[in-house]
Amino acid sequence: MTLKPLRIGAVKVDFPVLLAPMAGYTDAVMRALARRYHCGMAFTEMANAEGIVRGSKPIIHILETTPGERPVAAHIYGAHPDTLAQAAAIIEQTGRFQVIDFNCGCPVAKIVSKGAGAALMKHPDKIAQIVRAMTQAVSLPVTVKTRLGLAPDHMNISEIAQAVEESGGSAITIHARFADGRHAGPPDWPALARIKSERTIPVIGNGGITSADNALLMLTETGVDGVMIGQAAIGNPWIFRETWSVLRGQRPLPHSVREHRAIIEEHLRLLIAHKDKAIRAKQRPRRCNAERDAVLHFRAHLAGYIRGFKKSAAWRKKLSTLQCLADVLAMLEELRAAPGFDRLEH
Ligand SMILES: Cc1cc2nc3c(=O)[nH]c(=O)nc-3n(C[C@H](O)[C@H](O)[C@H](O)COP(=O)(O)O)c2cc1C
Repeated sequence: MTLKPLRIGAVKVDFPVLLAPMAGYTDAVMRALARRYHCGMAFTEMANAEGIVRGSKPIIHILETTPGERPVAAHIYGAHPDTLAQAAAIIEQTGRFQVIDFNCGCPVAKIVSKGAGAALMKHPDKIAQIVRAMTQAVSLPVTVKTRLGLAPDHMNISEIAQAVEESGGSAITIHARFADGRHAGPPDWPALARIKSERTIPVIGNGGITSADNALLMLTETGVDGVMIGQAAIGNPWIFRETWSVLRGQRPLPHSVREHRAIIEEHLRLLIAHKDKAIRAKQRPRRCNAERDAVLHFRAHLAGYIRGFKKSAAWRKKLSTLQCLADVLAMLEELRAAPGFDRLEH
């Protein structure tokens, strides 16, 4: 296929395959690894607009980026136009982001109960009001990430996409599932194709991409301007390099076992440094231990890195015992010696 860059306002995203925002995962470290393997643009974890305005240190830490990480999108949530506009202005002032993405699809009760995330899908007019307030407050492009609707009998993505476009949004990402379906179930690709045909702003398709071939298929079958990968990128930054090859008509090169192991270790070491920075910024007491924090957090990534490995249920059980870097390195040695590690499939 002919590869076109994705244009979000004035921002050019050379490779239209993006890393989805995932709370608890897409920190600066996961994003940096995805970018190394050609991911076109990554999104931060979800940051609370009120927290940004209040100057909350943990929330500001979510908005840490790695030097040279661009383009990168700050992904924020909230329900009040003024607060979101103020948060957007603060994000712009950091000079670290090229895009500001507004969450209108998160189904988590804690978010919905505040009238934010998926709750906003009931009110496309409110989405329009917020997007207008944000676009007036900043010069960066503002985008929206949403879903098809709250439930199959409440499909209103056409109205939402129209509201986003008419209020000045620069692109819309559609997770082609309903809020009541969380992150599982078959995505509705025909709905993506329909919204793409109805709108002039770029439409980014998301939901259920598990391989490079799948990403190519979503692009070609729906005509969307870009695709976004979520769960399949956890413990698998190589999916971006594979997609890079497949979209150029080349056979994807599988990564070696050595590379696999090296990236796991590098990911954890970078995470320890990242946590250390957070602890220092928060000036938390000495008993806070960056290495332990990082390892506990890393268990979920490691589950992704060993996905598909034989007897992975037994290995996953072992994950819950890991406490420090040495434990992880010892487990990697055991894994390397185990039959089948060279045939890891994602
Ligand atoms: C652990 C996890 C955290 C997520 N956090 C967010 C979030 O903060 N904001 C958001 O818009 N979507 C979030 N999502 C949804 C993803 O961005 C994506 O839309 C969804 O996983 C579908 O894509 P996939 O099928 O490729 O995973 C999250 C998904 C997962 C699995």
